[in-house]
Amino acid sequence: MHKFLLIVVCLLYVRVDAQHNSLPYEHTKLIRLESFSPEISEALEPYEVTYLSCRSHSSFPELIVKDEVLNWLNLNQIPYTLLEKDLKRKIDREHQHMLEIGKQRDGASWYHTYRTYEEVQDKLSEIALESSIATLIDLGLSYENRALTGIKLSTGGTDKPAIFINGCQHAREWITVMASTFLVDHLVHNYNTDLFIQNLLAHVDVYIVPIVNPDGYVYTHTTDRYWRKNRQLNPASSCVGTDLNRNWDADWNGWESTSTSACSDLYVGEEAFSAVEAQNVKNYMESIPNLKGHLDIHSYSALVLGPWGYTNQITPDHEEVVRLGTAMNEALSNAYEYSYTFGTGDADGALYLASGTMPDWSYDSLGAFGFTYELRPKTWDEGGFELPESKIKVACEENYQGVLEMLVWAAEDVMGCTNPQALNFDAHASLDDGSCELNVSLDSQWIVFPQGWRIFSTYIQPIQAQLDLVLAPISTNIIIVKNAVGAAYLPEYNYNGIGDLIDGQGYQLKLKTSDTLTISGMKIPHENFEMVLNEGWNMMAYLCDSVSDVVTAFHLINDQIHIVKSSDGSVYLPDFNYNGLGELKPGEGYQIKMRSTISFAYPFP
Ligand code: ARG
Ligand code: ZN
Repeated sequence: MHKFLLIVVCLLYVRVDAQHNSLPYEHTKLIRLESFSPEISEALEPYEVTYLSCRSHSSFPELIVKDEVLNWLNLNQIPYTLLEKDLKRKIDREHQHMLEIGKQRDGASWYHTYRTYEEVQDKLSEIALESSIATLIDLGLSYENRALTGIKLSTGGTDKPAIFINGCQHAREWITVMASTFLVDHLVHNYNTDLFIQNLLAHVDVYIVPIVNPDGYVYTHTTDRYWRKNRQLNPASSCVGTDLNRNWDADWNGWESTSTSACSDLYVGEEAFSAVEAQNVKNYMESIPNLKGHLDIHSYSALVLGPWGYTNQITPDHEEVVRLGTAMNEALSNAYEYSYTFGTGDADGALYLASGTMPDWSYDSLGAFGFTYELRPKTWDEGGFELPESKIKVACEENYQGVLEMLVWAAEDVMGCTNPQALNFDAHASLDDGSCELNVSLDSQWIVFPQGWRIFSTYIQPIQAQLDLVLAPISTNIIIVKNAVGAAYLPEYNYNGIGDLIDGQGYQLKLKTSDTLTISGMKIPHENFEMVLNEGWNMMAYLCDSVSDVVTAFHLINDQIHIVKSSDGSVYLPDFNYNGLGELKPGEGYQIKMRSTISFAYPFP
């Protein structure tokens, strides 16, 4: 008995042996047991039985069986419903339909039918060609040498928070291929027209790989519609394939719904990352800087699952996991009023625990929040792995809405108050979230700058003293700012050699055109503010909020002053009793040459 059988009823378990790989569904039927128990499960063990559905609380499992099982059920009077009397014919019909409709490749009709590996490859190439933010990414080859291809969506920059999204670890989960391709398509398309998406993608990089199990996916088209694993040969067995989503190094080969039998659909592999595809995708994910989130898309069951999947213990990040999970779950559910269920662990019975899964590895090894979606439908009755084509678009859009929540969450890191004048200004934030608190009791000074050179100063002590932040509103208009000792701030080069604006100091600034600036903060109490005027040249601030007479302002230190100069070149020469300057004005700064070093405060109340 496989170990997972002890724990769960829902098995997603296919007993496969090599000779059934071709035409495996000839003479098979699909039934739902209307009565089930561990005894029945055990009694069915000797037969070829495929359990479907992901929901462990579905106490009436849906099974793929042959007539011999029907005979046994009849004999033992176990009730069942016949859901499909010729599974092979159903699959053949589906395949035929795909071939016919597959020729329509334009626009929205692409999502009218399921697409082959080649069609998805072509689609990704087309998108990369057409979009300025999409680049093809190459994650290496599958076991049978198919390209593991994805798309990176990025508006540039480095070390942005990143999200990695993949579909199709499990070959038969076709809707996941459509949904992840749709993601690429839709994000790229909306980026051109939708401000919200532009804003999101300005702050987050998104990596999307629709098919991480191409060999298995192709095999479900050519040979076995319900194949789950990859197609890697197993040295000691004639059975083929490893369950990619049991091959990751997070509780690898643990107790939860795994098998060490190469014939099992839940085969964990020789060792962690023995599956070529898992290894290659792992390498790529490890190379992504600042990976914050990972989404592994599966079907079916309509679930959103957060870490961990191998235990019901909660992660240290549980609160945030629940917040994000709930937000995504609501987005998925609200899109078309189709209710999804969120949970971690076994999601309160909505799913079984699973060891060695990809999102748990992302969380444990990369520190990225690893989530699983199980897309539509909820049950086999609604189509199971063969979600009706009429529902592809709906599932894709639901999935898109869920993913947007993850992108918003990832962008949160860079969202905050971007106004340097606000009390809760966040210097790391680059996307304003409207949270700025501008204290109304703050003082502010409005300064008018002419074009060209000007010495300026302020009577305000700004909340954020960094010169580049104080001047941020006019930075694109600034050519250069210099302080008294010649250090410079050059906005065009993002170079601030001055650092903080120092109270009492004046600054020389050159503007491309005239401009105005508001500086907010606390008024400097000028009558108590002692500034040091050094022997020789200084650039001093004017700290009063109204004009004052230059002679009165300096009458206590007149004998130490050689000259006072304003921006426009007018001067005050106390020795000669010459006053071409007149008044000191708020917003102006002054060059002043001293005979000796003294301490000075403006002598006004
Ligand atoms: N159906 C998927 C699988 O069997 C889901 C695994 C994730 N399970 C979980 N409890 N988080 O691989
Ligand atoms: Zn799956």
